[in-house]
Formats: sequence, C-alpha cells, structure tokens
Amino acid sequence: MAQEIFDKVNHLLVEIKTASPKSLEEIEAFRIKYLGSKNILKSLFGEIRNIANDRKKEFGQLVNSVKQTAEAKFQSLQEQLEDTQENTELHSLDLTASAEPLEIGTRHPVSIIMNKIVETCSRIGFTVAEGREIEDDWHNFTALNTPEDHPARDMQDTYYLLNDPEHLLRTHTSSVQVRTMMQQKPPIRSIFPGRVYRNETISARAHCQFHQVEGLYIDENVSFADLKQTIEYFAKEIFGHQTKIRLRPSFFPFTEPSAEIDISCFICEGEGCNVCKYTTWVEIGGCGMVDPAVLDNCGIDSQKYTGFAFGMGVERIAMLKYRINDIRLLFENDIRFLKQFTAAF
Ligand code: PHE
Repeated sequence: MAQEIFDKVNHLLVEIKTASPKSLEEIEAFRIKYLGSKNILKSLFGEIRNIANDRKKEFGQLVNSVKQTAEAKFQSLQEQLEDTQENTELHSLDLTASAEPLEIGTRHPVSIIMNKIVETCSRIGFTVAEGREIEDDWHNFTALNTPEDHPARDMQDTYYLLNDPEHLLRTHTSSVQVRTMMQQKPPIRSIFPGRVYRNETISARAHCQFHQVEGLYIDENVSFADLKQTIEYFAKEIFGHQTKIRLRPSFFPFTEPSAEIDISCFICEGEGCNVCKYTTWVEIGGCGMVDPAVLDNCGIDSQKYTGFAFGMGVERIAMLKYRINDIRLLFENDIRFLKQFTAAF
C-alpha cells in the first residue's frame, strides 16, 4: 500500500517535469492543478497517515520536493510566456518602415547673413571678437569721441538702465572697437558681430533691436585706400562681382574722414527701382578712418598708428538680399516665414 502511494507521487513528479503547457489557459490549468487551493498535492499530504512511521519523513520530503518542482516549473513557464509575447511584439515591429519625417529647421536669415559676413572677412585676415550688450557710457560714447550733448546720448535714442544710468544697452557695435583696442596692441584686424538697441518706434523699416557687424583695422600706414579696397572686396563678395561701391562723405564722431557706404543697386542694376528709390544706389553702412583722439583714448599711439573702421546693419543686408520689405518679420519667429531662407546665396 505504502509503496503504491510512493509510486503515485513519483509519477506525479515526472508528470510535472514533462508537462509543457504553452498558452495562457494551459499554464493557468497547470497552476490550478498543482498549486491551486484544491491542488492534487494536498490530498497526497493527507495520505501521510497511511505511511509507516519510519517512512513518514521520507514521504513528507518527497511530496515537498514535488511541490517545489511545481512552483519552479510554473515560474519558468510564466517567464517563457512573457518572452514569447515580447518577441511577437518585436516581430510585428517593422524596423525598415520609414520614420516620422523630422523637421530639420533652417538658420535664421540674420544668422545666414552674419555667418556669410564673418566668413568673407575672415578670408582677408579678420578675426572675430564680441563685447557686451549692456555697456557703459564710456565704451559706447565717451571713448568714441561722442560729445556729452550728442543727440545719440539722448534718452529718446538710447536705452539707459533705470537703476544705473551709467549703463545702457549698446547702440552700436563700435563699443567693441574700444574694448579691443584697450586689450590688444596693433596690428589689430577684427570684426565684431552683435545685437544692438535703439529707442526707435517699431515700423516696417526700423526696430528697437537689430544686428550690426563692425570691422576695425589698425596698423602702421593704414590708409583710406586700404579702407576702400576692403569695402570693395566685401561688397563684391556679398552682393556679386558686378557690384560697384560709392563712399559718400558723412559724419561719425569716431572717424575722420567719414563716409556712408553705398553699393550699386543689384536689383535693378542701374535701371532704377523702388528698392534704390530710383537712385541706383543703396546704402549699407558707414565707415571712416579712426579718429586719432579715439586711438589715444584707447591707449594706442596715434602718431605711430592709423586705422579704419566700418559698420553695417545685418537686417538691412538681409532685407536687401532676400527682398524682405518689413523688418518686423525678422523678429516674429514665424517658422512659415523663416524656413524660406535656406542658403546664403
Ligand atoms: N557705429 C556706426 C553706426 O552705428 C557705424 C559705423 C561704424 C560708422 C564704424 C563708421 C565706422 O551708425
């Protein structure tokens, strides 16, 4: 009798080991049969009273090992099932399908022009330097020979800091000329790209913030001819090789002599159009020979060195190049507008 029960348990052990339920339902049936609340092992434990005393322990251990085997088997069955489910999901994933299209984006037209200017000037030996947007009165005006009563210093034109009127938002990148001259000895050949601010009423043609690129060259014997040659090279590189330049006498406190830079209108090429207002010339910036007083203010010996400077508005050039008729479009960050400009030229 006792041996019969032992045989039954051993048989059960084999049955559990060889069972191969696969589906969720089959595995659940396995669990109920061997591990559920009315499982088959419980009745076997009850048989222990029919076992002779000296084999009771052996029997108990055997039934226990069957139980552990059933538990281990159930756990591995469950893990297998999860693996197959994951695999099925993985296989139903088509890795060759094309991805959602990515919007790569484009550079802002102001950045495109700025990069082009930097690249063009670097080819003739200009390095790039940057200053600060919050500037002090001395770097923005005084060192640049701008008298106390100059209209640019008026609150109407310049944003002064409310809690510190000695500081202001720079009105031009010329302040970086000053910082560079204070820090370096000639020869100096640098350009200064950056954002500037003026208290202007915003309209299609003016904005309270815009960008400039300024150039400065200081060495012994730098002449107006060098300035003119540099501007000519620049204009031809940026606007095309047929471009002519015209330097129109003007005034800036920090250059003497000074000139406005005009280029021949590349839109009508001399025919006259509304961009050049039928003059065939368009203004792109200002320039001049650095005033000796400015050199002295910045610790550079004006007896020994001369230099030239030029500056231009980046938005202005972008508007001319891309025929944009409203400067505000450049600050609205409307992607439908901005993505039209992908290449320099
Ligand atoms: N700083 C001048 C302006 O903002 C431009 C300029 C730069 C003129 C350098 C001459 C030389 O109008």
